[in-house]
Amino acid sequence: MKAIIPAAGLGIRFLPMTKVQPKEMLPVVDKPTIQYVVEEAIAAGITDIIIVTGAGKRAIEDHFDKSPELESVLKKQGKTKDLKEIRRISNMADIHYIRQKIPRGLGDAIYCARNHIGDEPFAVMLGDTINISKVPIVKQLMRVHEKVEASVLAVEPVAKEKISDYGIIDGSLVRDRLYLINDLVEKPKAQKAPSNIGITGTYVLTPGIFDCIKETSPGTNGEVQLTDALKILRKREKVYGYWFEGTRYDIGDKLGWMKTNFELTLSHPQYSEPMRDFLRKTIENYDEK
Ligand code: G1P
Repeated sequence: MKAIIPAAGLGIRFLPMTKVQPKEMLPVVDKPTIQYVVEEAIAAGITDIIIVTGAGKRAIEDHFDKSPELESVLKKQGKTKDLKEIRRISNMADIHYIRQKIPRGLGDAIYCARNHIGDEPFAVMLGDTINISKVPIVKQLMRVHEKVEASVLAVEPVAKEKISDYGIIDGSLVRDRLYLINDLVEKPKAQKAPSNIGITGTYVLTPGIFDCIKETSPGTNGEVQLTDALKILRKREKVYGYWFEGTRYDIGDKLGWMKTNFELTLSHPQYSEPMRDFLRKTIENYDEK
């Protein structure tokens, strides 16, 4: 299975951090966000990856490319561990880049990759979503897809005050953790939402979605929304939501990004202890003031 990683958004919620730097390159602990996404795809056995970029996203291509100058400096300085890591990153997968010329939204970004995908099911993994789980979340969706032979979206319950940040499903539970989707709404107001089950940014889709995107008019924020295209798709084919096992880190805004950094630092084998220590002391000192 191939994967599309849409990474063409303007990162408006992160300004000024993302004025020059792509939001997908914002570091989380010790690597850029998008590297977590590529690593999840690889862990799921996906080796053909299409990253949809746009203006100002060159750093993403450079990150996964070879860096001969850096490699030769590291070699000269005997920094073998760093050298190995830098080489590992550039050899990770077969990554192709497609440019979305105008930022017209998530649905349009996926449509840009249609010729590379062809007539087969594919995965979509948002370039700003980090999943940590025993079995990669995209792999969990691939397994469900094999059984139901239909599109499957990763979903989970979201807090009431967060409902308006997500695509929300109206689904019927058909078996443990699996919802048959009756309808979907992009970023509804909490009072009008059909449920609290949110779409978290990992999908396995059938190629039928491309025609649906073509028929989708711009929606929320004037963008062609994938959720609106899925609304059309579910009238033609079954579409499922799967409440995955694992944790999805919400890096959709600045506070989410900061929290993710803390959480993942606190579970990092090297940085966990010193960070706990630092936080404890900082909070004690802060309380005393
Ligand atoms: C996108 C999707 C939305 C989904 C969300 C998950 O929104 O349009 O349906 O719930 O990702 O992060 P965005 O966060 O890009 O505005």
